[in-house]
Amino acid sequence: MNFLNKNILLCVTGGIAAYKSAEIIRLFKKNGADVRVVMTESAKEFITPLTLQAISGNEIHDSLLDVKAESAMGHIELAKWADIILVAPCTAETIAKITHGRANDLMGAIILASKASVFIAPAMNMNMWLDQSTQENCKKLSSRSISIIGPADGEQACGDIGPGRMVDPENIVELISSSIKIGPLAGKVITITAGPTREQIDPVRFISNNSSGKMGYALAEAAIESGALVNLISGPVSIDTNKSVSLYKINSANEMLEKVDELMPNTDIFIGCAAVSDFKPSHYYENKIKKEDLNVIDIELEKNEDILSHVAKVYKSSYVVGFAAETKNVKENARKKLLNKNLNMIISNDVSDKSIGFDSDQNEVNLITKSESIFLKKDKKIRIAREILKQISLNIN
Ligand SMILES: Cc1cc2nc3c(=O)[nH]c(=O)nc-3n(C[C@H](O)[C@H](O)[C@H](O)COP(=O)(O)O)c2cc1C
Repeated sequence: MNFLNKNILLCVTGGIAAYKSAEIIRLFKKNGADVRVVMTESAKEFITPLTLQAISGNEIHDSLLDVKAESAMGHIELAKWADIILVAPCTAETIAKITHGRANDLMGAIILASKASVFIAPAMNMNMWLDQSTQENCKKLSSRSISIIGPADGEQACGDIGPGRMVDPENIVELISSSIKIGPLAGKVITITAGPTREQIDPVRFISNNSSGKMGYALAEAAIESGALVNLISGPVSIDTNKSVSLYKINSANEMLEKVDELMPNTDIFIGCAAVSDFKPSHYYENKIKKEDLNVIDIELEKNEDILSHVAKVYKSSYVVGFAAETKNVKENARKKLLNKNLNMIISNDVSDKSIGFDSDQNEVNLITKSESIFLKKDKKIRIAREILKQISLNIN
């Protein structure tokens, strides 16, 4: 990470996670940035200005209408000074405020006046985050090129478990570091699905497939290299991922769909690389099925929702890329899928060839759009992933 000669304005708002902003300042400074801090009135109830002043080495800015403060470094000067503005933690209130372009406090006025790259790291109770108004506000912010980092899933201060935790300071700083690198997809949010899904029959048995997740994880790595902010929704696999990736682990196709719906409003590019189970058992046995009880088990299967078609249909402003794992008429079937599902691009590969595809470290694919078809010959998955990302960036820029 390198923030040498970067001016970073950290805006701290009034949420429980405000105590973590001290660590964010420390990490930015350790990596060479000059950090100035703006606090909202509520933020000062959660962490003292003195603490943040001591760690940043600069006085805190908290007032828009204070003559003395304005003559020292006014809101327009601060807005011009910043290369990067990060609001962390960002409350639901502040999300609403930025969405509506309000300027009745220092932070709001600076964000309106600045040409800096703006990142926000939401932190709030899961119901506040999932509420329609917060989701709609975030969608608007994304469309205005404000990058939304997280939030992460997990246990919350109030005891609930779900999305709403602020992403860890180290990951926030890593994410910003990756996205300010000059890359063809700098600042874009890419959501990738990877790996298999598991459709439970009973608590110990499930239906799944051979997907290793390697291609999806390679895409996440390549997307980070190209400067994007990356969400990776992954089925059960045993691969480590780059720290800059926001990783969301799921099991079933339904859980994957839920996470996709949560992240899509803030996504510019969707890559559906997961091998999502087409079917799930119609009935889930709450208790383990005992072999002594049955000689034959009839498991009725019902269709899962097709996540890729759903995304292409509902989130029309996003660029949607699908994968087609085929065993015959590979290119022809992929082209049909591209048109039927109304995708922007499809990557097809022949999974009957054991030297490529599922568990292999290599792949060989056709990259098909409505106007062209490019053959990417057998190569390491990370190199194939880089080429796919390059072609996506050429298509959207
Ligand atoms: C104890 C307590 C904790 C709070 N935590 C959060 C939080 O984590 N996220 C959030 O969006 N709002 C939280 N709030 C509500 C905000 O503080 C409130 O909406 C405030 O107006 C935010 O103002 P600001 O965004 O200008 O800082 C909390 C309130 C209290 C009393």
